[in-house]
Amino acid sequence: MAQRILVLHGPNLNLLGTREPEVYGRLSLSDINERLENLAQAQGAVLTVFQSNHEGALVDRIQEAAREGTEYIIINAAAYTHTSIAIRDALAAVCIPYVEVHLSNVYKREEFRHHSYLATAAQGVIAGLGAFGYEAALQYALAA
Ligand code: DQA
Repeated sequence: MAQRILVLHGPNLNLLGTREPEVYGRLSLSDINERLENLAQAQGAVLTVFQSNHEGALVDRIQEAAREGTEYIIINAAAYTHTSIAIRDALAAVCIPYVEVHLSNVYKREEFRHHSYLATAAQGVIAGLGAFGYEAALQYALAA
């Protein structure tokens, strides 16, 4: 059976490419998703991608992932990383292993970005490697 992997992108990541390119890079979200889809396809995995600017929509999508039999989640919760107990609880509720990704090195940035509600329950955290971080997380999930 093909491995099912879900990639979740949080708020403002739909603006990648034009949003603070010196921080987040010049690739658009569709560029990143296309790379991930190619990688997954080459390994025969089924990749689903979801972006939302709304916390509840991300929670709903995580709950749906469990119903669909998703085996791995790659999540860049963006600003919700630093604020959302609801997303943390949803991930804990579904018991699906996940990798947390950030394009920028959040530890080099403002102090409020140093805390993550998701990190302590994640399999791993990748920050500061740009779009490659998503690819590395996907390679890890594909090998799991
Ligand atoms: C981000 C870092 C967050 O602090 C920020 O709120 C984002 C993007 C990143 O990918 O570097 O929106 O998650």
